[in-house]
Amino acid sequence: MKIRMLKESDLNHGFIECLETLGKAQTKLSDMVHIFKQRKKHGIKTFVVEEKDSSNIIASGSIIFEPKFRYTEKCAHLEDVCVRPEYQKKGIGKKLVLYLIQYAKKKKCYKIILNSHENNTPFYTKLGFQKHENGLRLDLI
Ligand SMILES: CC(C)(COP(=O)(O)OP(=O)(O)OC[C@H]1O[C@@H](n2cnc3c(N)ncnc32)[C@H](O)[C@@H]1OP(=O)(O)O)[C@@H](O)C(=O)NCCC(=O)NCCS
Repeated sequence: MKIRMLKESDLNHGFIECLETLGKAQTKLSDMVHIFKQRKKHGIKTFVVEEKDSSNIIASGSIIFEPKFRYTEKCAHLEDVCVRPEYQKKGIGKKLVLYLIQYAKKKKCYKIILNSHENNTPFYTKLGFQKHENGLRLDLI
């Protein structure tokens, strides 16, 4: 198993199936390619886990870095961590998040924040995260 940045060619090699664990995903390849380019332009770092000896993508997670006015270090936002259902509960999500924590440390972040479903709280608390404040949301569409 190897963790690396998402490449355009991964989009139709298991990446969509990863995203579908989070809800209905965009599945038209041309739209995905456009979004991939937009995200790259905005500096969003998407990592994938590649299955051993294949180009099959089995997990993914993204980081967005936010420079803060009040600190010299940045805040990292962890987004869309997902493991394909048939690969869950094998320690892959844990390896991926530990990798992303190290990546955020290397990029001089002072904290990582994320929103998650209550059911996944134990997964994150086992990795050192703590419940903090309340998440609020306003749907605009
Ligand atoms: C949540 C998710 C990323 C976890 O990945 P995973 O590869 O299945 O988790 P791991 O096997 O690495 O689990 C690591 C540890 O967390 C525990 N864990 C994982 N998910 C858990 C859950 N929902 N409830 C309680 N414990 C959980 C495991 O038992 C394991 O414990 P251990 O270290 O004591 O053995 C994965 O289940 C997933 O993709 N879910 C659907 C998408 C989603 O909800 N993503 C989160 C968005 S923020």
